Amino acid sequence: MKILVLHGPNLNLLGTREPATYGATSLAQIEARLHELAAELGAQIESRQTNHEGILLDWLHDAGEEGFAAIVLNAGAWTHYSYALRDAIAAIGIPTIEVHLSNTAARESWRHHSVISEVCRGTILGFGILSYELGLRAAVESASNGA
Ligand code: DQA
Repeated sequence: MKILVLHGPNLNLLGTREPATYGATSLAQIEARLHELAAELGAQIESRQTNHEGILLDWLHDAGEEGFAAIVLNAGAWTHYSYALRDAIAAIGIPTIEVHLSNTAARESWRHHSVISEVCRGTILGFGILSYELGLRAAVESASNGA
């Protein structure tokens, strides 16, 4: 089973970006851990990061044709205002798990609302790298039982 892991804007800076909020783990280290976990779960992952919204939309549109059974998505700040992203997730019909490193509910009020949550299978936030690990487990489960 192939799972697509997508990271949105500024997440390439993990490791040095506001470590008090996002931790000291780099994106490469997160990806390495997810590759290990995927192998344990009998799945394969492909992980991609972009700072360009249209590229993320294209990746979502093509995910089905590329054979991905589920998606783990940290959309960064687009989470809070991108209706185009919300519509893309709704359009593709592939179970998508929303993840965030930080507990956005405990931060600035503009981070409290996610415009993508309603079209995602579920949301995991506030656990740092564990949010991604739990998201991957949820993605494998969702893809396996068709939920
Ligand atoms: C984030 C939370 C967002 O509010 C923020 O814009 C990010 C990262 C997180 O993983 O905690 O870029 O998605």
